[in-house]
Amino acid sequence: MDDRMETVVAGVALKNPVITASGTFGSGREYGELIDLNCLGAVTVKGVSCEPWKGNPIPRIAETQSGMLNSIGLQNPGVEHFIEHDLPFLRQHDTKIIVNICGHTLAQYCAVAERLADCDVDMLELNISCPNVEEGGLAFGTAPRMVERVVQAVRHYTGQPLTVKLSPEVTDITEIARAAVSGGADALSLINTLRGMKIDIHRRRAVLASKTGGYSGPGIMPVALRMVYEVCKTVDVPVIGMGGIATFEDALEFIMAGAAAVAVGTANFHNPYATVEIIEGIRGYLEENDIASLDKIRGIVD
Ligand SMILES: Cc1cc2nc3c(=O)[nH]c(=O)nc-3n(C[C@H](O)[C@H](O)[C@H](O)COP(=O)(O)O)c2cc1C
Repeated sequence: MDDRMETVVAGVALKNPVITASGTFGSGREYGELIDLNCLGAVTVKGVSCEPWKGNPIPRIAETQSGMLNSIGLQNPGVEHFIEHDLPFLRQHDTKIIVNICGHTLAQYCAVAERLADCDVDMLELNISCPNVEEGGLAFGTAPRMVERVVQAVRHYTGQPLTVKLSPEVTDITEIARAAVSGGADALSLINTLRGMKIDIHRRRAVLASKTGGYSGPGIMPVALRMVYEVCKTVDVPVIGMGGIATFEDALEFIMAGAAAVAVGTANFHNPYATVEIIEGIRGYLEENDIASLDKIRGIVD
């Protein structure tokens, strides 16, 4: 245990600031064969809905310059499966568990939150920012009044720490952040993917069956960093920063912009050891520069 690495998000103490980003780490099981899950600050599991969702047609993944596109559509076996199979597996490990929840309607978001309310999870992450579902997702995440309403509604069903996952597909991210906090968010997670597209010029059609998808990876990092910086300057709740983080230097940029913790997503696909390397890299940086705690550098950039 290294005190210098500790951070607190929404009252939840993490042993280090490195979390897995939802949808890029499953429920940890596959990665657990490669890395020690006990090393992680927290695992955020892929989106969980009240009923099983089958997701979008394939192809739904494409590699792009500096990142990838996905149109998975929040495929998942539903909350009952999560409680029965994934939660007991994760609980065997010494890491915090963040459950990303999704819905097509307000009632569905509330139903998942209510079902998880008595479960042994550390935090809920309310995904109101998925670009790959026709109902719910972005429709809830881009209008401040709607954001406040959905957060308020979910808040009513759970006393668990609640972080709200924001979309970058807005003109003013600080307005959405304020709405989420006023609805009762204890923390904010940002950013989700940006809507993108790729065309196969030989077949002369979109590469993804859904035509468009969510763009993630290193290419989005400057946008994500700017938004985290703006949000940290605007609200008082802790921010989980993400978007393109692949190295410890990337993670430190987010912390210096004000993030309480960081989440690693797309990088897991090309380097399954990314999270562990980032943790070691941050630890080394603190040691080499004789920095007593993350607080000393968090938000240090004006
Ligand atoms: C394949 C894939 C699936 C994703 N699934 C989810 C999801 O279920 N819920 C969610 O809130 N975000 C989801 N995301 C978004 C990521 O959690 C993250 O916000 C985004 O990819 C930006 O971080 P990155 O550039 O490090 O990947 C997904 C991203 C990818 C690439």
